[in-house]
Amino acid sequence: MATKTKCIGILTAGGDSPGLNAAIRGVGKAALGHYGMKIVGFRDGFRGLVENRRLELDRATLSGILTTGGTILGTSRDKPHRMVINGRTKDMTGAIRENLKKWGIDCVVCLGGGGTQKNALRLHQAGINVITLPKTIDNDVALTDATFGFATALDIATEAIDRLHSTAHSHHRIIVAEVMGHRAGWLTLGAGLAGGADVILIPEIPYDVKKIALAIGERRKHGSNFSIVAVSEGAMSRHDARIFAGAEKKLERAKGLNEKLEAKREIAAIEVRHQGNTMRLARELEELTHLESRVTILGYVQRGGTPSAADRMLATRLGTACADLIAQGRYGVMVAARGDGTEPVPIEKVAGKRKSVPPDHSWVESARRVGTCLGD
Ligand code: F6P
Repeated sequence: MATKTKCIGILTAGGDSPGLNAAIRGVGKAALGHYGMKIVGFRDGFRGLVENRRLELDRATLSGILTTGGTILGTSRDKPHRMVINGRTKDMTGAIRENLKKWGIDCVVCLGGGGTQKNALRLHQAGINVITLPKTIDNDVALTDATFGFATALDIATEAIDRLHSTAHSHHRIIVAEVMGHRAGWLTLGAGLAGGADVILIPEIPYDVKKIALAIGERRKHGSNFSIVAVSEGAMSRHDARIFAGAEKKLERAKGLNEKLEAKREIAAIEVRHQGNTMRLARELEELTHLESRVTILGYVQRGGTPSAADRMLATRLGTACADLIAQGRYGVMVAARGDGTEPVPIEKVAGKRKSVPPDHSWVESARRVGTCLGD
């Protein structure tokens, strides 16, 4: 009896990231060309699985996308278990399972960061065959050496810090550069280290603004009338970090839906208050140091445009390894980067975990050794 041709669905979810198209191409070319499978793309994340919005992925569609930014499939932050359909929030997990069965799709490949890993786990627990790939410029997915998108964003943020140096120097100013990364400091720390920032502030090391001002004052004494401060969007003062940690503990300990909702509301309120933190920090530094201060928010520039060679290679390695696992029928795993190779890791071990910067990480130690102020 002839064996049935495997049919794969693929989607991209969460914030876009350089290397997504390279990964789609890696999975697709290996699945089509090497294993003779079929592959179909679903548009705009998990929503495409509900609304059956597809992009047929054939040789022509997969060609010429290795070097392009964004995602040819489109993306969204929709969650399968809480999707807004006609103005109402619904759990669409069961509908997705039925759809996939009806359409003869054997497995779904989900390309995404922390949120996508959680959503994919929900589908896996509902009996759907899923495999995930770790994508995010934040580099904060657990149990993988790296995520694609990070290397490109690191290059972009480093170049921005390089360019800020000459203008900060010419005007004798402090320039505070806000770097993305959500609640992880990898991108700021990497770009700060590579770009020679004088101060690096990351969420994992809460800061004391007076210590930063002192460090800037020291630089002044030695003839440097300017400073570059690289600050993570999630970096917090010691005071704010204590309040935030308290709210997170509350959520962890919450029993029952009401307590959970209350803790979540508290966290959301802190996050709203945190918006504008970089501007406040620049103002405080200006007051304390009497040096003119300016803010540059690097923003979405960090995740736009063509992927770096490192990200193209990582995405291709992970994508092709994903096709190998599908051929073996190994589902419920994330394809992690491990050294020069790859390793399947159960999604339940990844979902809900965040890879933070350990305060004694070698990048932190190196930054301290070259005299960078970490704000502590
Ligand atoms: O996770 C990637 C990321 O760019 C984070 O660094 C940032 O906090 C977030 O996405 C921004 O999200 P959005 O695209 O929804 O504004």
